[in-house]
Amino acid sequence: MELWGKRDDMVVHEREPFNAEPPRVALARERQTPVGVFYSRNHGPIPDIDPRAWRLRVDGLVGHRLELSLRELRERFEEVEIKATLQCAGNRRAGLAAVRDIPGEASWGPGATATARWSGVRLRDVLAEAGLESQAAHIAFSAPDVSRKADPPQPYGGSIPATKARSPEVLLAWAMNGEPLPRVHGGPLRAVVPGWIGARSVKWLTRITARSQPSTSYFQTTAYRILPAGADPARAEPGTGISLGPLPVNCDILTPDNGAQLPPGPTEIMGYALAGDGRIVARVDVSPDAGGDWRQAELDPADSPWVWQHWRTTLDLPAGERHVTARAWDSTGALMPESPRSLWNPRGYGNNSWARVHVTCR
Ligand code: MTE
Repeated sequence: MELWGKRDDMVVHEREPFNAEPPRVALARERQTPVGVFYSRNHGPIPDIDPRAWRLRVDGLVGHRLELSLRELRERFEEVEIKATLQCAGNRRAGLAAVRDIPGEASWGPGATATARWSGVRLRDVLAEAGLESQAAHIAFSAPDVSRKADPPQPYGGSIPATKARSPEVLLAWAMNGEPLPRVHGGPLRAVVPGWIGARSVKWLTRITARSQPSTSYFQTTAYRILPAGADPARAEPGTGISLGPLPVNCDILTPDNGAQLPPGPTEIMGYALAGDGRIVARVDVSPDAGGDWRQAELDPADSPWVWQHWRTTLDLPAGERHVTARAWDSTGALMPESPRSLWNPRGYGNNSWARVHVTCR
């Protein structure tokens, strides 16, 4: 269980709790990420749940509480499948840490993002069965994994607004890429909240609570917030800063690798772009010289707003040190910001600055 079925070359940030991402180039191969390549982000020990004994409780501001076994979920609701990209709010934190130190947080590179085919039932169907009351403005998720990093230590949780919970893309998933959901990814059941930070896709889901206010979990009130630049995260009061939800437009270069040595001449540059909540990527520009000249990349069609789009272009790279740079625009005209300096925040979330790899051509 040392690597939880992941590739041997995963970049392991922590073994306990297990936190690991694939090397950049491993994400380039497939549009659907194999489970062995999919990043793993955990705040506590990975629970071992007997699927037969497991139950999902639905309570709070509902007309009637539910308690459902996996079999009841499968039998009582329509099974749906959706492709969706997950992206951790800490993805590309290393780029922010290079601006200014971010103590106590792992320096995630480009790999805390990946795409899978998820199967399960729509959250909205389960909420409808429970009879969601009109005052229910937030849907909270609870899980049994206890994080000692939370203050005070507590089980993982979080919430999404009821408007998002009622959107058809939000799933309670029991399968990933056609196989039963692996334990490390939240088996037997997890939430999948496409277009939102990965933190809201709660794994090992045991309880769904309809509330008038957001979840009181540490992971909603204190973590996953953009604190003001001068704030001390260890002293920030719950509720300080901006709570993260919908993802901003982002992209990265997946090949060539950062630090690669290449022959000069025509070089294929390839990457992904993801627009975030309900939007699609409209354009990706790639530059051979850190943003002096730009060339428009060929962009895969958007299958759905919930899935990353791969892109590619060929640049003629002269001999020497090159800073290949990419930036994406979304369908609302929003562009990734140029500099990680402008985005720096004490917990290091939401780095969607221009993607850069440094290569040497000789
Ligand atoms: N759910 C639980 N119960 N515990 C966790 O630590 N981590 C969250 C989310 N759901 C987490 C969780 C975060 S921050 C992310 S980015 C995604 O799960 C990662 O999902 P993955 O490990 O399947 O890639």
